[in-house]
Amino acid sequence: MTLGTIHRALYHTLDIEPNKRLFVEGASTGTGYDCLRSAVSSGLNVVGMVSSEERAARVEAVGGKAVDRKDPQWAQAFTPVPDDPAEWANWEAQGASFVAAAEAAAGGSIDYVVSHAGETAFPRSFQTLGDGGVLTFYGASSGYRFTFMGKQGSSTPSKMFTRAGLRAGQSLLIVYGPGAEDGIVDRVAIEAIEVGCQRGAQIAVLVDTVPQREFVNSLGFGAQVKGVVSLEEIERRLGDDYDPPGPFAEMPNPFTESQAFKEAVRLFSDRTLKPIGSAIAPFLRNTLDKRGLPDVVFDRAGRDGLALATSLVKPNVGKVIYAEELSGQRFTFYAPQVWMRQRRILMPSAEIRGTHLNTAREFAEMQGRIAAGQIDVLPALARPIEDIAEIHQAMWENRHGGANYVVTHALPRMGLKTKDELYRAWALRDAAERGEVITKVETGSAGALR
Ligand SMILES: NC(=O)c1ccc[n+]([C@@H]2O[C@H](COP(=O)([O-])OP(=O)(O)OC[C@H]3O[C@@H](n4cnc5c(N)ncnc54)[C@H](OP(=O)(O)O)[C@@H]3O)[C@@H](O)[C@H]2O)c1
Repeated sequence: MTLGTIHRALYHTLDIEPNKRLFVEGASTGTGYDCLRSAVSSGLNVVGMVSSEERAARVEAVGGKAVDRKDPQWAQAFTPVPDDPAEWANWEAQGASFVAAAEAAAGGSIDYVVSHAGETAFPRSFQTLGDGGVLTFYGASSGYRFTFMGKQGSSTPSKMFTRAGLRAGQSLLIVYGPGAEDGIVDRVAIEAIEVGCQRGAQIAVLVDTVPQREFVNSLGFGAQVKGVVSLEEIERRLGDDYDPPGPFAEMPNPFTESQAFKEAVRLFSDRTLKPIGSAIAPFLRNTLDKRGLPDVVFDRAGRDGLALATSLVKPNVGKVIYAEELSGQRFTFYAPQVWMRQRRILMPSAEIRGTHLNTAREFAEMQGRIAAGQIDVLPALARPIEDIAEIHQAMWENRHGGANYVVTHALPRMGLKTKDELYRAWALRDAAERGEVITKVETGSAGALR
């Protein structure tokens, strides 16, 4: 499973190219170790984050470079981006030495990041990503509320629609309002609507206020703008049952307060996502998509609505895009909506791609790569079933090694390849236990031993 997940992440989601630089979290265990070994053998320069000298040595033994997250220079820097905007610049500055160390180890700016260690690791890993780089993630071990600081760079709606592959007939939700002149005229959104119409998209516009809705309707965009929805009207209708889009609130700990955590997810869904989603859906529904989910959401720098946008956009194919300068702004989202549903966040100078498991076809491709010698499977470490508690405890306490464990139950010995071999080995074992000497073992048609 680890190699299958990594195979999709590297060769499909990221579509890695040789000679590029890759940074991976947890590089000496589990998926991180498979990522490191596969990327090195595919010709990339790989930097692995680890938590001890012993783990650093394991990374270096297979051709990677290591950075230790427990190094006192930056050990305290692995935190979510704080809520208070006054602390954002300082939070970024605290990560500068770690980013410099990762780049020095990689030999330059980082092209790809592979993340899975959760909300305390993700923000720094994203900060480590270089200009034009892509981060993928498939897990969130330390928590699901992801935060990150936007990167420098701006683009245009047209260029971003091209990057997102927006096609005629696809549905597009445009967020209108944050930063509008005189509270009414949002030039960036107007440009996005115009370009969206030229590309033949089916457009819904999400504005903040009723006057903005009237203004957008007065611009006469034509039939491709299917509807304009105002948050003000949703709020008026639902009153205390509604929370407007904004930063994703801090969550209870999913591991120790799981009921409270589930309740917080439900509240976001019931009070923000569903009211807005159901107001937009009638305008974007078509014969192929009865739910009316947008293929692309054009979101904005001026308000952190990423948790909403990543939950609204279509699973597996949906993309949230930004064209404006994002540096100095913090963004937040609920991680499973992006990784398990494989959504993407496209920014002018960086990208985040969710990735999850792999298909049967990719599994076959993976075996092709193994057969060709490009990648290899970590030899399994066989342990008797009695050790299973200790193996799990070691994984939970993060003191396991770079290993795939195979727990053996009732297997007489390792290395058996067929059913017949297994029956023979059982017969020999049982006979030896009875003190008999066996000269010949036959397996009958019903599998009975003779
Ligand atoms: N979506 C999928 O298809 C898929 C498939 C497989 C796994 N996963 C998920 O991926 C995650 C990793 O799985 P795995 O099998 O690789 O686990 P693993 O063998 O336990 O390795 C995770 C490593 O991450 C590092 N780590 C843990 N907490 C960290 C933190 N707070 N900050 C930074 N690094 C931290 C640790 O390495 P150091 O202490 O050395 O830094 C740890 O050994 C899990 O959440 C798992 O559920 C998802």
